[in-house]
Amino acid sequence: MRVGYGQPHPHETGACVPRMRQAGVMIQVTAEPLDLLRRRTSVKWRMFSEDVLPLFVAEMDYPLAPAVSAAMIERIQASDTGYVADDLTMGPAFSRFAADRWGWRVDPLNVRTTTDVSVAIAESLRVAIRPGDGVIITPPVYPPFFDLIPEAGGVVVEVPLLTPSAPGADTGDGRPAADVGGTRSAPGSDAWRLDLAGIERAFAAGARAMLLCHPHNPLGLVHTREQLVALATLAERFDAIVVSDEIHSPLVHRGVDFAPFLSVSDAARRHGICTASASKAFNLAGVKCAVMVADSAPMVALLDAMPDEVGYRTSILGTAASIAGFDQSRDWLDAVVADIERSSALLGTLLAAVIAFQQAHRLIADGVVGPKTAKKLGVGWLAHRPHGARTRASVPSMWPVSRSIPDRPSATRVSGMRDSTLPARPRC
Ligand SMILES: Cc1ncc(COP(=O)(O)O)c(C=O)c1O
Repeated sequence: MRVGYGQPHPHETGACVPRMRQAGVMIQVTAEPLDLLRRRTSVKWRMFSEDVLPLFVAEMDYPLAPAVSAAMIERIQASDTGYVADDLTMGPAFSRFAADRWGWRVDPLNVRTTTDVSVAIAESLRVAIRPGDGVIITPPVYPPFFDLIPEAGGVVVEVPLLTPSAPGADTGDGRPAADVGGTRSAPGSDAWRLDLAGIERAFAAGARAMLLCHPHNPLGLVHTREQLVALATLAERFDAIVVSDEIHSPLVHRGVDFAPFLSVSDAARRHGICTASASKAFNLAGVKCAVMVADSAPMVALLDAMPDEVGYRTSILGTAASIAGFDQSRDWLDAVVADIERSSALLGTLLAAVIAFQQAHRLIADGVVGPKTAKKLGVGWLAHRPHGARTRASVPSMWPVSRSIPDRPSATRVSGMRDSTLPARPRC
């Protein structure tokens, strides 16, 4: 997410400029400036000291989509904050969104709601397995998966993702993974991917379910259609169930082929439950609404086996906001994804610049080359005095000076580098 970078914001200038600008069909959505963000009371802005960027807390820095805030304000003004009615409005909204985004036909009657995706996962697993059953996850993965499985009575079975350089594995019984429909990975494959052979071995050893993360957090990995088809084939062969966490699917970058797990094959429909929400795409984690989707009689029966309370715990505000997101804020979402893509490219440039700077600095410090030679090697030097520093330091000239980061404490820490005085990591 892009934070500030010193551009004046309407709130700062007092100008009556809408935060979401519409020029023709182009909408531009920009993140709130840091001083506004710091007024928020959520985990990202209250649980860490000011010089920490808790990047793992998946909250947006954008202002809410106008239709989303309007929907919640309308409910509040009507004092309509009781229990959510099972009035079948969420199913059609999610179904329209899924058809529009991914060409996925969802029967609105097979969409159920609950509090959030974590609850959706725990409750789906609870009806899918018996206590003590193994449930596969594929680390590195969203850490709360390690807790949600025991919460549902299961036992975690780890089958790590294959790293880009890992050679393709066979299925464990001599057949290549390609034989089960997989994307057999040649040695040196440049992508992270599911270890289909490892998953097959885990199912063969008794695992009854798999908790798929798609897109995969972390890594932002969108699993290929071929791998998903192969996974569904394995689930069918071992009569296992795949609970697919697709919470980040609305944020997939343009040009990337995202296939919802249930859409890839009949086997996926027969053995899969999709969990998703509007919460990551529209910053609604705090208002509590998620969906569980099935697309076959046995999977619908599992959803029906859940206690009614699972549905009643959905928030009425979250439901109104999610429907407004899915139905009325798709242009806004497109603009957000475009902005995230820009930020991601900028981050790549900045990191490359920092690495180049550090490498050149080391060469000079080690006396291998002088500053002039370092410059000839392609690193242009700018005089730059970091906060409070007495000595001159330099940054490469590719640093976007016009967007130089405003006064930051020199000891800025990034997520994951917490000190012992900070609170325990929240479940975000
Ligand atoms: C992959 C994944 N699943 C689930 C969640 C939690 O979602 P919820 O707040 O809806 O429980 C997150 C939160 O970041 C996530 O990244």
